[in-house]
Amino acid sequence: MQFIRIFGDQCHHNKEESYLFPLLEENGAPATGCPLSTLRAEHQKSRHFTEILSTASADYIANHEAGRLALIEALQHFVELYPEHIWKEEFLLFPMARKMLSRKDLQSLLQQFSLAEADIGEHAHASYEALARDLAQRVGLDLPAHVA
Ligand SMILES: [Fe+2]
Ligand SMILES: [Fe+2]
Repeated sequence: MQFIRIFGDQCHHNKEESYLFPLLEENGAPATGCPLSTLRAEHQKSRHFTEILSTASADYIANHEAGRLALIEALQHFVELYPEHIWKEEFLLFPMARKMLSRKDLQSLLQQFSLAEADIGEHAHASYEALARDLAQRVGLDLPAHVA
Protein backbone atom coordinates (compact mmCIF):
# COMPACT_ATOMS: atom_id res chain seq x y z
CA MET A 1 0.00 0.00 0.00
CA GLN A 2 2.89 2.30 0.80
CA PHE A 3 4.45 1.62 -2.59
CA ILE A 4 1.21 2.42 -4.43
CA ARG A 5 0.43 5.48 -2.31
CA ILE A 6 3.88 7.05 -2.01
CA PHE A 7 5.87 5.93 -5.05
CA GLY A 8 2.89 5.56 -7.41
CA ASP A 9 0.63 8.41 -6.42
CA GLN A 10 2.47 10.94 -4.30
CA CYS A 11 5.59 10.84 -6.46
CA HIS A 12 4.84 9.50 -9.96
CA HIS A 13 1.30 10.80 -10.52
CA ASN A 14 2.33 14.07 -8.91
CA LYS A 15 5.21 14.52 -11.39
CA GLU A 16 2.73 14.18 -14.22
CA GLU A 17 -0.16 16.18 -12.76
CA SER A 18 1.83 19.00 -11.18
CA TYR A 19 4.59 19.46 -13.75
CA LEU A 20 4.33 17.57 -17.04
CA PHE A 21 0.62 18.03 -17.84
CA PRO A 22 0.54 21.78 -17.00
CA LEU A 23 3.69 22.35 -19.07
CA LEU A 24 2.10 20.58 -22.03
CA GLU A 25 -1.04 22.70 -21.58
CA GLU A 26 1.08 25.87 -21.53
CA ASN A 27 2.51 24.69 -24.84
CA GLY A 28 -0.93 24.18 -26.39
CA ALA A 29 -2.04 20.65 -25.47
CA PRO A 30 -5.79 20.63 -24.80
CA ALA A 31 -6.70 20.09 -21.15
CA THR A 32 -9.87 18.28 -22.14
CA GLY A 33 -10.02 14.99 -24.03
CA CYS A 34 -7.28 12.46 -24.63
CA PRO A 35 -4.63 12.09 -23.45
CA LEU A 36 -4.43 14.67 -20.60
CA SER A 37 -7.95 14.57 -19.13
CA THR A 38 -8.17 10.81 -19.69
CA LEU A 39 -4.89 10.27 -17.84
CA ARG A 40 -5.98 12.57 -14.99
CA ALA A 41 -9.28 10.67 -14.69
CA GLU A 42 -7.37 7.38 -14.59
CA HIS A 43 -5.16 8.70 -11.78
CA GLN A 44 -8.37 9.47 -9.87
CA LYS A 45 -9.63 5.96 -10.56
CA SER A 46 -6.33 4.58 -9.30
CA ARG A 47 -6.76 6.54 -6.03
CA HIS A 48 -10.24 5.08 -5.64
CA PHE A 49 -8.95 1.55 -6.37
CA THR A 50 -6.14 2.10 -3.84
CA GLU A 51 -8.69 2.69 -1.09
CA ILE A 52 -10.61 -0.44 -2.15
CA LEU A 53 -7.36 -2.43 -2.11
CA SER A 54 -6.44 -1.08 1.30
CA THR A 55 -9.74 -2.25 2.80
CA ALA A 56 -9.58 -5.59 0.97
CA SER A 57 -5.99 -6.18 2.18
CA ALA A 58 -6.93 -5.49 5.79
CA ASP A 59 -9.96 -7.81 5.49
CA TYR A 60 -7.80 -10.53 3.92
CA ILE A 61 -5.21 -10.23 6.69
CA ALA A 62 -7.99 -10.55 9.29
CA ASN A 63 -9.58 -13.56 7.60
CA HIS A 64 -7.96 -15.15 4.55
CA GLU A 65 -10.96 -17.24 3.53
CA ALA A 66 -13.59 -14.48 3.86
CA GLY A 67 -11.34 -11.80 2.32
CA ARG A 68 -9.84 -13.76 -0.56
CA LEU A 69 -12.33 -12.95 -3.33
CA ALA A 70 -12.53 -9.22 -2.51
CA LEU A 71 -8.73 -9.01 -2.52
CA ILE A 72 -8.53 -10.67 -5.95
CA GLU A 73 -11.18 -8.28 -7.28
CA ALA A 74 -9.37 -5.28 -5.82
CA LEU A 75 -6.10 -6.34 -7.46
CA GLN A 76 -7.93 -6.96 -10.74
CA HIS A 77 -8.82 -3.25 -10.91
CA PHE A 78 -5.11 -2.43 -11.14
CA VAL A 79 -4.47 -5.21 -13.67
CA GLU A 80 -7.16 -3.69 -15.88
CA LEU A 81 -6.27 -0.03 -15.37
CA TYR A 82 -2.49 0.17 -15.63
CA PRO A 83 -1.49 -1.57 -18.86
CA GLU A 84 -3.84 0.73 -20.82
CA HIS A 85 -2.78 3.77 -18.81
CA ILE A 86 0.88 3.05 -19.49
CA TRP A 87 0.12 2.43 -23.18
CA LYS A 88 -1.51 5.88 -23.42
CA GLU A 89 1.53 7.46 -21.80
CA GLU A 90 4.05 5.60 -23.96
CA PHE A 91 2.28 6.02 -27.29
CA LEU A 92 0.24 9.25 -26.93
CA LEU A 93 1.64 11.38 -24.12
CA PHE A 94 5.38 10.94 -24.56
CA PRO A 95 5.41 11.37 -28.37
CA MET A 96 3.37 14.58 -27.89
CA ALA A 97 5.78 15.78 -25.19
CA ARG A 98 8.79 15.03 -27.41
CA LYS A 99 7.28 17.21 -30.16
CA MET A 100 6.13 20.07 -27.93
CA LEU A 101 8.81 20.54 -25.30
CA SER A 102 12.10 22.32 -25.76
CA ARG A 103 15.43 21.27 -24.30
CA LYS A 104 14.98 24.00 -21.66
CA ASP A 105 11.50 22.64 -20.78
CA LEU A 106 12.96 19.16 -20.34
CA GLN A 107 15.74 20.47 -18.11
CA SER A 108 13.28 22.30 -15.88
CA LEU A 109 11.07 19.18 -15.72
CA LEU A 110 14.07 17.13 -14.64
CA GLN A 111 14.72 19.54 -11.78
CA GLN A 112 11.06 19.47 -10.74
CA PHE A 113 11.02 15.67 -10.87
CA SER A 114 14.12 15.52 -8.67
CA LEU A 115 12.36 17.74 -6.12
CA ALA A 116 9.26 15.50 -6.25
CA GLU A 117 11.50 12.50 -5.62
CA ALA A 118 13.25 14.26 -2.72
CA ASP A 119 9.84 15.17 -1.24
CA ILE A 120 9.03 11.53 -0.48
CA GLY A 121 12.18 11.25 1.64
CA GLU A 122 15.91 10.83 1.22
CA HIS A 123 16.71 7.51 -0.56
CA ALA A 124 12.99 6.60 -0.57
CA HIS A 125 12.71 6.80 -4.36
CA ALA A 126 15.71 4.51 -4.86
CA SER A 127 14.38 1.97 -2.35
CA TYR A 128 10.95 1.91 -3.99
CA GLU A 129 12.63 1.35 -7.35
CA ALA A 130 14.61 -1.52 -5.83
CA LEU A 131 11.39 -2.96 -4.39
CA ALA A 132 9.71 -2.74 -7.82
CA ARG A 133 12.68 -4.56 -9.38
CA ASP A 134 12.62 -7.23 -6.71
CA LEU A 135 8.87 -7.84 -7.12
CA ALA A 136 9.14 -7.87 -10.92
CA GLN A 137 12.01 -10.35 -10.79
CA ARG A 138 9.99 -12.67 -8.54
CA VAL A 139 7.28 -12.93 -11.19
CA GLY A 140 9.72 -13.07 -14.11
CA LEU A 141 9.21 -9.54 -15.50
CA ASP A 142 11.95 -7.31 -16.89
CA LEU A 143 11.68 -3.65 -15.94
CA PRO A 144 13.24 -0.87 -18.02
CA ALA A 145 16.42 0.75 -16.66
CA HIS A 146 14.46 3.61 -15.10
CA VAL A 147 10.97 3.00 -13.69
CA ALA A 148 10.20 6.39 -12.16
FE1 LIG B 1 0.02 8.48 -15.30
FE1 LIG C 1 3.06 7.57 -15.73
